[in-house]
Amino acid sequence: MAEEEGKEKPAAKKYEFLEDLPGIGPATAQKLQEMGYHTVESLAMATARELEPAGISEKKAFAMIEEARASIGVSFIRADELLKMRQSVLRLTSGSKALDGLLDGGLETQTITEFYGEYGSGKSQICHQLCVNVQLPSERGGLNGAVLYVDTENTFRTERIVSMAKHLGLNPEQVVKNIIYAEAYTSDHQMFLLDKADEVIKENNVKLIIIDSLTAHFRSEYIGREMLASRQQKLNKHMHKLIGLARAFNAVAVVTNQVMAKPDVFFGDAVHPIGGHIVGHTSHTRVYLRRASHGPIRIARLVSSPYLPEGEEIFKITENGIEDASEDEKAKPRGR
Ligand code: GTP
Ligand code: MG
Repeated sequence: MAEEEGKEKPAAKKYEFLEDLPGIGPATAQKLQEMGYHTVESLAMATARELEPAGISEKKAFAMIEEARASIGVSFIRADELLKMRQSVLRLTSGSKALDGLLDGGLETQTITEFYGEYGSGKSQICHQLCVNVQLPSERGGLNGAVLYVDTENTFRTERIVSMAKHLGLNPEQVVKNIIYAEAYTSDHQMFLLDKADEVIKENNVKLIIIDSLTAHFRSEYIGREMLASRQQKLNKHMHKLIGLARAFNAVAVVTNQVMAKPDVFFGDAVHPIGGHIVGHTSHTRVYLRRASHGPIRIARLVSSPYLPEGEEIFKITENGIEDASEDEKAKPRGR
């Protein structure tokens, strides 16, 4: 990219492979790969501390990371560069204009969007729809990209993708081929899959990374108060990895999350998402989904976003997928 940078900075060198970076010999490259850094992009998102286990000194790690960042044109040092990164944010349509409106035009790349809600509220259906939509061209709200789908509850259904793809006039076989699917059996396996994902993301032009559900394994494996701290620490690390991938590859990241009842709440929402503050703080955009009193109608509430106001919108889940509700449907009482 020929940006008007002023003359003080020479153009950054571009490196295609890790081994091409100065200071990375075959042995270091292998260690980095074992730790999940297969690409210049993912190294650019690492911190010096994360590279310590590879036996790389802090000073050397800083230099390597800087070089990798410069190579992919990302640096977090200057505010104008941050702004430049912001400007490259793309948006992906959810399939519902109302829901897109709530999110200021669709789901953003470079951040995580979390959908949380009760059983049957539509979290996985939205994930399925996004798998199809991301493959659309930009003029139809897509990103012309592929999907990495980490499924922790074995709820991904190819048939559902096929019917959604047909409805949008896409070739279902092609759409299915562009979804790279991985089932995660435990929370460690789930983390492992993401740690190994960078190469797959790069090679397949993945523009959407889904983890459905982010918290289910963590919730069932880390039980009781004494395990809470280690659970949160792991979740934090996992989310950090995800955000790094979303930034490095300008991809949309989506996670789903179940809710827990708040026994002491009598008014307002008596549920809250699993994972507490760590998931909340790193999520960037959180959307709470709930069913209307009956039928296909769902209510989406934007609960937190770095810059958008809270709000509520209605959409529906039909045979076709995620769609806007009709005016009649919107006018009916929503229930809780
Ligand atoms: P959990 O993962 O159990 O927490 O729930 P979830 O929020 O992921 O729910 P999910 O997205 O799986 O929503 C399931 C609901 O979507 C069903 O109860 C149906 O109402 C609706 N749904 C799913 N598939 C279809 C379909 O093919 N046709 C129609 N009309 N509705 C569907
Ligand atoms: Mg689900």
